[in-house]
This record gives sequence, C-alpha cells and structure tokens, in this order.
Amino acid sequence: MLKVGLIGCGFMGGMHAACYKEIEGAQIVAVADVRSEKAEEIAKAHGAEIYATGDELIVKADVDIIDICLPTYLHTHHAVEALRRGKNVFIEKPVCLTAEEGELLVALQKESGTKVQVGQVIRFWDEYKWLKEASDSGRFGKIRSAVFKRLSSVPGWAWEGWLHDAEKSGSVALDMHIHDVDFVRYLMGEPSNFATSVARNSKGVIEQIFTTFNYKEASVTVEACWDYPADFPFDASFRVKFEKATVVLDANGLNVYYNVGGKEKVEIKPDFEAGNDIGGNISSLGGYYNELKYFVDTLLAGKEPVIAPLDDAVKSVRLALKEIESVGGAQLR
Ligand SMILES: NC(=O)c1ccc[n+]([C@@H]2O[C@H](COP(=O)([O-])OP(=O)(O)OC[C@H]3O[C@@H](n4cnc5c(N)ncnc54)[C@H](O)[C@@H]3O)[C@@H](O)[C@H]2O)c1
Repeated sequence: MLKVGLIGCGFMGGMHAACYKEIEGAQIVAVADVRSEKAEEIAKAHGAEIYATGDELIVKADVDIIDICLPTYLHTHHAVEALRRGKNVFIEKPVCLTAEEGELLVALQKESGTKVQVGQVIRFWDEYKWLKEASDSGRFGKIRSAVFKRLSSVPGWAWEGWLHDAEKSGSVALDMHIHDVDFVRYLMGEPSNFATSVARNSKGVIEQIFTTFNYKEASVTVEACWDYPADFPFDASFRVKFEKATVVLDANGLNVYYNVGGKEKVEIKPDFEAGNDIGGNISSLGGYYNELKYFVDTLLAGKEPVIAPLDDAVKSVRLALKEIESVGGAQLR
C-alpha cells in the first residue's frame, strides 16, 4: 500500500482525495492545508494525519507519494523540497510558472531518481484517449486540421483569488490553455511555428487566447477562455479533420463523420464513472481517477510514468510561455 501525503485541500485536492478513495494500492495518510477546516474535512474521510503547511508535511510525514494540489506559484518550492527528500511526486498542472523552474525540477528529478507525474489530465480523459489512439493507429489517415476549445465561466473558488493574479497562475493562457497545448503536443508533436492572439480584461490580464499551431501538413487551432458569464456552460470540445473522416466531440457526444458517407457515434465504456460533489466546472472524476490510478500502478510496478512525465509537461509549459511572450506577457501594465 502506497502512502500518500496530499498538500492543498482546495478544489483539486478534494478531487484527488475522492479518487484515492476508489484506488486500490494507495491511501491518503497525511494532509496539509493552511486552511485547517479544509484539511480536517479530507483527513476525517481518510483517517489521515493533519499538518499545518505543505513544508511541515514534507519534512515530517512518512509517505511514498507527495501529491501537490497547491496554487501554481507554490508548486516549484514544494516539489523541490519533496524531491530533495527522495519522494515520488504527483503535481498538478501547469507544473511550474517559468522555464527556469522547469529546468530545476527536471534536473532534481534526475539527481534524486524519483518518479514524477504531472496532472495533464486530458491525456487520461476517455474521449481524448480515444482520439490519440485513433490518430496513432492511422485508421482515418493523417490529421489535416483540428480545433480544440476549453471555455468556462469565471472560476470563483480559488483561495485568496490566486487564479486571477497573472503572476500566481500565469493567466488562463498558462492555466486552462495548458490542457490543450499539452494534448496537441501529445497528439501531433512540436509545431513548426504558431500565431497567438488574446483578449484581456481591464487590468491587462489575458482572459481568452487563440493560438494556431502550424505543422508541415496540418494546422491546429486552440481556444481557451474563462471569463464567460456565470450561466455559460463549460465547454471542452474538439473537431479533428483526418484524411478519411472528421471526428467531433461536442454536446452531441463523440461522433465520426466519414468522407465516403455515414456517421458513427462512439460509445466509450469508462474505466471509472462518478460525478463529483466538489463544485467547480468539472462533472466527472473519470480522468482524475485514471491519471492517479496510472501513477499508483506504475509506482507499484517499479516503472517510470510515460504518459505525462515531468520533462514532457515542462515542454508544454515552455510552449505556452512562448505563446504568452509573443503577445507581450500574461499581463500588460
Ligand atoms: N487538472 C485540472 O483540471 C485542474 C483544475 C483546477 C485546478 N488545477 C490545478 O490544481 C492546482 C490547485 O488548484 P485549486 O483549484 O485546487 O486551488 P484552490 O485555491 O482551490 O486550492 C489550493 C489550496 O492550497 C491551500 N494552500 C495554500 N498554501 C498552502 C501551503 N503553504 N500549504 C498547504 N496548503 C496551502 C489553500 O488553502 C487551498 O485550500 C493549481 O495548480 C491548478 O492550476 C487543475
């Protein structure tokens, strides 16, 4: 049984905790949050010890995995402390805020020989997993174009409003957009070039981003926005044109439209099905369960995680940072 120390018991910490309850082979034995009531809630449900801060948990708790669900600007410090103590780390996306932080983490992981996986959950989301497999199999031919969207109303849950401070979150362009940037890299590799445009709020912070990534034989557009009105429904969707068919994920589900005629609805039987009562803009635990189960199973098998490893997640951050740099920064002053 792997012992997990969960740091940060807010929105994502609650989500991870709900998943660990269902995962055989791992158990949360320690939790930390500067808001004691948040830590207590999860500690009670899991029979875990409570620590006042992430630093204290890392130093004192006897655990095999440190799971970091802290605001992004606190990721690197805590990951460094955990890696220096030889702990395996699961860390939420975006893994870090700068290229330098990314380099430091990759170097420390190599030095410490620990295993690190990043919460690039879209790689574990059923419909996106299906798309990746369809593309790799070549059964529809090559991808010619694609559009990926991730749109939501204003996220209102963040502790001390950290998500809306560009220096702490990197703005929507690093936070929410990283999901699709990372998935596009996973699907297609590194683009040859890209063009980005953004919309900003009255403080000059990016609230919406559109990037077209160009490949030798394909063009892929990614949009992310998180300041739609409160009643705007969350929308994570894609439309991918292959040589022989077009695949669409939208409110009608996942459908394949064949060039030769005909349409097929893809029914995926999820490995794990459960809603969440944690709030926020996510309706199912599926991808979170899949990614954490994969990490636990990988560690138990003594292997390295290869689906969302640290060095690859750092490359996704680097690409998103280049996009942000190309438009003058996450916040114009
Ligand atoms: N994978 C996804 O789909 C997804 C979705 C939302 C957020 N995230 C990521 O998860 C991370 C956490 O986001 P969130 O939405 O859960 O934020 P949140 O504000 O809901 O939770 C963060 C928690 O950290 C606690 N905290 C702050 N400093 C601490 C410290 N020093 N020690 C211990 N606890 C401390 C806060 O009290 C808060 O409870 C971010 O990196 C975010 O980008 C990922």
